[in-house]
Amino acid sequence: IQWESQVRSSAQIRRSGGMSVLVTGAAGFVGTHVSLALKKRGDGVVGLDNFNNYYDPSLKKARKALLQNQGVLVVEGDINDSRLLAKLFDVVHFTHVMHLAAQAGVRYAMENPNSYVHSNIAGLVTLLETCKSADPQPAVVWASSSSVYGLNEKVPFSELDVTDQPASLYAATKKAGEEITHTYNHIYGLSITGLRFFTVYGPWGRPDMAYFSFTRNILQGKPITIYRGKEQVDLARDFTYIDDIVKGCVGSLDTSGKSTGSGGKKKGPAPYRIFNLGNTSPVTVPTLVNILEGHLQVKAKRKLVDMPGNGDVPFTHANISLARQELGYKPTTDLQTGLKKFVKWYLSYYVYHQSKPLN
Ligand code: NAD
Ligand code: UGA
Repeated sequence: IQWESQVRSSAQIRRSGGMSVLVTGAAGFVGTHVSLALKKRGDGVVGLDNFNNYYDPSLKKARKALLQNQGVLVVEGDINDSRLLAKLFDVVHFTHVMHLAAQAGVRYAMENPNSYVHSNIAGLVTLLETCKSADPQPAVVWASSSSVYGLNEKVPFSELDVTDQPASLYAATKKAGEEITHTYNHIYGLSITGLRFFTVYGPWGRPDMAYFSFTRNILQGKPITIYRGKEQVDLARDFTYIDDIVKGCVGSLDTSGKSTGSGGKKKGPAPYRIFNLGNTSPVTVPTLVNILEGHLQVKAKRKLVDMPGNGDVPFTHANISLARQELGYKPTTDLQTGLKKFVKWYLSYYVYHQSKPLN
């Protein structure tokens, strides 16, 4: 009973015409920011996260505390738990699902391939099965990835480009996710929006990502490893600031339309959409390091190594015309400004407030 009332109160909507959103992966980097943004404007939000230990679990707990301070409940559980999902949908008739729970990270797929299958394929199907049976059916917005463009060399990447050469198992599971969600749209009339995020960074970020681990190592005086592509060409990423990504997520929820009903009784075509959410200005990894050195006022100890063939793609670059047109998506934070905000957060979180060194 207490569980139910907590879930209800977290889902309570203040804004007229507001949404009630289930955010999966809410204790994750993107999930925390999206949940806060929705709550702030008066939507109802319930988070779900399994608090796995892929990276520093204490950071996930701290994000959960931040959310709880703002009245967002984060339920601890797995998207593969169909009974838990059914219970949540029973208590709250979610209008939308923002699905961000996944096994993220490109290189870790070599170490633990099954965790990608568990969360990004089996978990996705379990969640979609619940959505398909819910009444009303929620509109689903979920995180795909820029990695689906794989070894495609035609830049900038646009949504109509081929995505048939994934370079990592992570990318392959995201590509599979796009195909799986398509079938649920086709057969069951679920409204689906897939968002291909491009290397997202910012405060409360992920310790496994380069900008974060580089910051940690530079401050601790440890070397950083910079991967280099074929013929010593620098790798480049279309690094995208978290606030811009949040705007793209919220814009997607707002424009996602209605699901049309269960299989066989379709009232009309529900939308199936895919958007790039990038920054349209790729930056090389050595340039990222230069910017960090400037903000930290510490020189990095650089080790240059050949790209170890662990799933990285040489470059990413988003064409965002479609998202601009359909979602009003317009990134506004450049890497210099965004990393300044990240470093400020990092110093306040780890150096001033936490005594424990990071792993
Ligand atoms: P994150 O790892 O910080 O967040 C994912 C959260 O999902 C974690 O808190 C984790 O505990 C949770 N989770 C994982 N498996 C789960 C399961 N089976 N059940 C319940 N919870 C589970 O990652 P993020 O950077 O916030 O990424 C969010 C989404 O965006 C992911 O789908 C990721 O693949 C995608 N994405 C991220 C980036 C990026 O640069 N951050 C880029 C492209 C796509
Ligand atoms: C990031 C996320 O980690 C993925 O979850 C996400 O799906 C992907 O973005 C995406 O855009 O779809 P990635 O771009 O590999 O993946 O992010 P980082 O791990 O932060 O790497 C950024 C760049 O730094 C890459 O070029 C990588 O090769 C490089 N790098 C990484 C190094 O040079 N050294 C390192 O020690 C780690």
